[in-house]
Amino acid sequence: MTDNHNFFLRNVWYYALPSARLKPGTMVARTFLGEPVLLCRSQEGKIFAVRDICPHRAVPLSCGRFDGQEVECCYHGWRFDHAGRCVAIPSLLEEQDQDLSRFNVQSYEVRETQGNIWIYMAQPGKSQSSSRMEIPEIPEVPGFGDRPPQLVEVMRFPCFVDHAVLGLMDPAHSPYVHRVWWWRSGELHEEVKQFDPSPFGFTMRRHQLPANTGKLYWLLGGIPETEISFRLPGVRVEETTTTKHRVCNLTAITPISDTETEVTFALYWTPSWAKWAKPVMHLLTRAFLNQDRAVVEKQQIGLKHNPVLRLIKDSDMQAQWYYQLKREYARSLAEERPFVNPVKSQLLRWRA
Ligand code: FES
Ligand SMILES: [Fe+2]
Repeated sequence: MTDNHNFFLRNVWYYALPSARLKPGTMVARTFLGEPVLLCRSQEGKIFAVRDICPHRAVPLSCGRFDGQEVECCYHGWRFDHAGRCVAIPSLLEEQDQDLSRFNVQSYEVRETQGNIWIYMAQPGKSQSSSRMEIPEIPEVPGFGDRPPQLVEVMRFPCFVDHAVLGLMDPAHSPYVHRVWWWRSGELHEEVKQFDPSPFGFTMRRHQLPANTGKLYWLLGGIPETEISFRLPGVRVEETTTTKHRVCNLTAITPISDTETEVTFALYWTPSWAKWAKPVMHLLTRAFLNQDRAVVEKQQIGLKHNPVLRLIKDSDMQAQWYYQLKREYARSLAEERPFVNPVKSQLLRWRA
């Protein structure tokens, strides 16, 4: 499995949904890694997730009803609780003693933090608690406590997860894919960045933003410094700070199926004026993500022919690290041994 690039990483937390999209007493049907999942939020605000297939005759549970506590299948009214336990089969007579636990539906571990819902996608038959291995933690955006993002944008990319991740970590595409008049001049400059291994990934060491970058950032007051980290399975956290302010973004990649991937971009900021700029920032974020999606759509034309893809130094080093990290994680799981980060501290240079 691990010699083939095209596999989903298991035993990791994936970004599931912005918290705000799951209101109390409602349920949302989703697909993650090809598995149908039903996310629910109780009236009290607690979230849970179960497999979205009724164990009786396979009708999606999402076609039924959720009363804020239990999910009821629309076909014969079987009911399931937050742990996926079958708690009622209406067609049974009282004296027909049935062990309902035989009809439980699989449940998933879910967690909510900083306005984001995460789901743990275990290897089939294994829960997180049954695994003694260290796993990548759910990433936290530093400096915002449990505040939700001020802006969140979710977009579907028509590709396998790896291509979305590579696009996210690709420093050389910006001058071509994100060429817009208000951001940068078209000229390429040499970039030199120090990278270090960090838990289940790597970090571009904190550095000052060069004067030519980010004309928007002067609004932050002071010279901005930025640090970007990546961790498995596909999460990037970018932290930009000045003495006064802090702007962070979390970009998370979630495989939906072999051919669809979801990219979530959540933005957190401290400047109070930024709330007035929200509509504009929404438009810019969408425009930006659309540019990435458009090029991924074009890439699919070529990928249909299964070409060998060439990765170069140094601008594709992060892509190579991603593949190495992913393979090493899968191997460490298969061999039940600790994960060894394959990334070594290194200076990378490229033109962008
Ligand atoms: S199919 Fe769900 S209760 Fe029968
Ligand atoms: Fe991009």
